[in-house]
Amino acid sequence: MRIIKGNIIFTPTYHKFEVIEDGYIVLSNNTVLDVCKKLPEKYKHYELIDYKDKLIIPGMNDLHCHAPQFRNLGIAMDKELLPWLNDYTFPEESKYVDVNYGEKMYSRFVNEVYKNGTTRVAAFATIHKDSTLKLIDLFKQSGIGAYIGKVNMDRNSCDTLCENTYDSINDTIDIISQTFNKSELVNPIITPRFVPTCSETLLKELGAIAVKYNIPVQSHLSENIGEINWVRELHPDSKFYGDVYNKFNLFGDTPTLMAHCIHLTDDEIDLMKNKNVYAVHCPTSNANLASGIMPIRKLLDNNVKIGFGSDVSGGHSFSIFKTMVYAIEFSKLTWAQNKEYDFLSFSEAFYIATKGGGSFFGNVGSFEKGYDFDALIIDDHDLNFDNYNLIERLERFVYLGDDRQIYHRYVKGSLI
Ligand code: GUN
Ligand code: FE
Repeated sequence: MRIIKGNIIFTPTYHKFEVIEDGYIVLSNNTVLDVCKKLPEKYKHYELIDYKDKLIIPGMNDLHCHAPQFRNLGIAMDKELLPWLNDYTFPEESKYVDVNYGEKMYSRFVNEVYKNGTTRVAAFATIHKDSTLKLIDLFKQSGIGAYIGKVNMDRNSCDTLCENTYDSINDTIDIISQTFNKSELVNPIITPRFVPTCSETLLKELGAIAVKYNIPVQSHLSENIGEINWVRELHPDSKFYGDVYNKFNLFGDTPTLMAHCIHLTDDEIDLMKNKNVYAVHCPTSNANLASGIMPIRKLLDNNVKIGFGSDVSGGHSFSIFKTMVYAIEFSKLTWAQNKEYDFLSFSEAFYIATKGGGSFFGNVGSFEKGYDFDALIIDDHDLNFDNYNLIERLERFVYLGDDRQIYHRYVKGSLI
């Protein structure tokens, strides 16, 4: 048992911050046993780590990003999705056939995830088995929790980034047999890149693997109008984009993340809700690739699960704090245009970044009893030069801060 002391802030629900000034978090076996303002006598002889006036908040969860796009961060922002993929992204990802290049870039990537206070991440690798295994190793060494996906794509890509269907399936199974449930924090995830780059045979086999091993799934959904029209041409019998994944057991038959979810039909939203498919909001990417704005309030009203994604390098920032700010700002711009849906509040955005996204990893993202102790210790003394209250201090850190204020990071009770 250990006790962590400081200014504790978290969001058990969307609508309200729980704030305990000078409070205590009691940890047992790396999970939260109790959170209290006054430490009960029975805990007084346990080790106490006193973070004094610092803020203690849940770690950030990044539910969508691309590790092999690291080199392209902050460049190549002049195209929409499909030409952006063909001209910039596929050529860069092709380089990961070389494991040495993979190791060099993936080390930098993992370090940036760490720096930005992300404690759990779902990331795409590339089609390449050896580089993907390297990325898994690097995350294991980092202490960060991660789902890592070997990408599957067997059509409509460039020659240097296209697999033979059966190699794609066999490599996926090989990675699963080497890594599935071998680590408490890092595991594989089934990752068809998106519908246009996957044959029906590949989608069918991937769905069967996901269900057979009970492995989660991640992909892209309804990001760009040109992409959606292409999916309709490729699958004229499907009712909507998500229906294609659904047909092949890749849409909520196991826990599923779908990035973007901008241009959804009402039936698609219903199916996401009914099958507990997560909509991953990646606002900076959606702006950079001129994709559109996810109707986040509509999805919340329809009880669709929501998390945030950096979508590096469509998105230019690793920071889920900055993602929160963009999401709030975009929702305000949408509201200003048509007043149809209320904009996001700060507590809602914080909830999505912590407990909302964290739920994909288990009891993660809150300090309620039974939750894994994933936490950031924030030393904001440089931002806190007047008598700001604790919520104001948190808000200033989210809007103005960066890794310089992140003093310590915990994942499942371990200081990393
Ligand atoms: N759709 C298919 N691949 C990608 C990708 O790498 N990034 C984004 N933003 N969308 C995609
Ligand atoms: Fe993406």
